[in-house]
Amino acid sequence: MNKWLVDALRCPYCFGEFKVLHGNSSQDKESYAVLECDCEQYPVVEDILVIRKGVIGNHGESSKTVSHLILSGKNQEALLSLVMPPTPAGRDLAPAWVQRLPQVRGMDRVKNLLGNVARPWWARSMRDFFAAGPEGRTATDYIEAALGAKRQYKHYHYFMNRFGQPRHLVALSLMAPIQSPAGPVLDFGCGFGHLTRHLVRRAGRQPVVGADRDFTRLYVAKHFFAPEASYVCCDGSTSFPFVDHFFSVVYSSDTLYMVPNKVVCSREFRRIVDRNGLIIIAGIHNGLVDAENYVSQRMPYSSYGLLLGSWSHRMITNRDVLDRYGEKCGPDLSRSSTTMALNQDPWFSIVATNHEGLLVDQGSFDDWPHAEGIPDLNPLYKPATSNEKGDICYRHTFPSSWYEKEDGGCRQYEPEEVWIASEVLYDLSLRKRTPAMEDLIAHCVIVGMPERFHNHAHSCPK
Ligand SMILES: C[S@@+](CC[C@H](N)C(=O)[O-])C[C@H]1O[C@@H](n2cnc3c(N)ncnc32)[C@H](O)[C@@H]1O
Ligand SMILES: [Zn+2]
Repeated sequence: MNKWLVDALRCPYCFGEFKVLHGNSSQDKESYAVLECDCEQYPVVEDILVIRKGVIGNHGESSKTVSHLILSGKNQEALLSLVMPPTPAGRDLAPAWVQRLPQVRGMDRVKNLLGNVARPWWARSMRDFFAAGPEGRTATDYIEAALGAKRQYKHYHYFMNRFGQPRHLVALSLMAPIQSPAGPVLDFGCGFGHLTRHLVRRAGRQPVVGADRDFTRLYVAKHFFAPEASYVCCDGSTSFPFVDHFFSVVYSSDTLYMVPNKVVCSREFRRIVDRNGLIIIAGIHNGLVDAENYVSQRMPYSSYGLLLGSWSHRMITNRDVLDRYGEKCGPDLSRSSTTMALNQDPWFSIVATNHEGLLVDQGSFDDWPHAEGIPDLNPLYKPATSNEKGDICYRHTFPSSWYEKEDGGCRQYEPEEVWIASEVLYDLSLRKRTPAMEDLIAHCVIVGMPERFHNHAHSCPK
């Protein structure tokens, strides 16, 4: 466990410092501990500091129960209590052949009955999966285990296909002003770490902290997306567990708009960042547009500006960021988007700072930010046909109509069909980037992925 991080932490409820307690297990002694303040005991599981009170597991486990498991040496039980997904609805566990039957009267009852029978099997297989640990596994295995249940499909598709998404490119582009920060960088609402891994590169020698209230996502971020970062599981609707002005940059993508208490969250951003630091909030839903699909998020862009108090800031629409991204340029932070543009775009971002010198045109990128990592095919492309030379034609597919509605803008730069030469496919299988790939990278057909996102095999069409 990182001592520098524990020293920078304070309890969000009593602002007390933490004493570190260790359990009596001889295994994983460094990665499991309990942080104690005057009002609570918080568990540290697999080096992830869980600074949340009350129920923290999907099956009702509280911070006290999990801390107790660690102090009694039951580290694996502590891990399982935090990573076991919620039990899916009975009908979603019914066998595949039942799912395929026509939806006649009474069918839901049949599915529920068969699904309920499958529950103990489901629980056992999940326990076995998570207990075995990340060795030999990929991020995709974990995302499937965590979000594979039917009602999670929306999130599943979002995270599996994040790499070339318009909102992902915006989030990457907004990192442009992060250059050799003087202190640590926070990625608030980091999820599985899709952006955290890029922040690690931008932060240089400074540490990056990923924070999210979802433990399993942090676990995947730590093992697969950005192992170099440190992780804190906390809730953005309460005080943040950090000392004042600890970070040089507070970065957050696709998150603030879904935090219920935006006043607390934005006030905390300003409290924990250095007075001359940067607050970058990428991907905020604008309540003026598409309100029917976001009934609980009606705040218009102008109200978000009020949350930043006296801090100088810019508000830029996704359209404006993407237009420049297409030309391989970062955002122009010398001014906000026009009111007309802000009134019409469903998504926008905010960059706030007291250091006005940072609010300038960010110029061009040396390389495509979305190419950072192992070059691989954008998962939205599926093989369609091939020729005798071994070239393959890939077709762009949307995993769902919701995905297409939300992120269909990618079709402005991702072609519907693309032939990829066998030599390029061969180089991809070797994880090698070559000049022949540049055009495919410019169109996000090839994107940069983390080392162990999935098994890198480019299947031929059947
Ligand atoms: C749409 S995801 C974005 C993840 C990541 N930043 C990215 O851009 O890929 C939003 C994340 O915010 C987290 N989140 C939502 N509300 C939160 C809260 N109140 N406190 C902490 N995290 C929260 C969710 O668990 C989720 O992982
Ligand atoms: Zn406390």
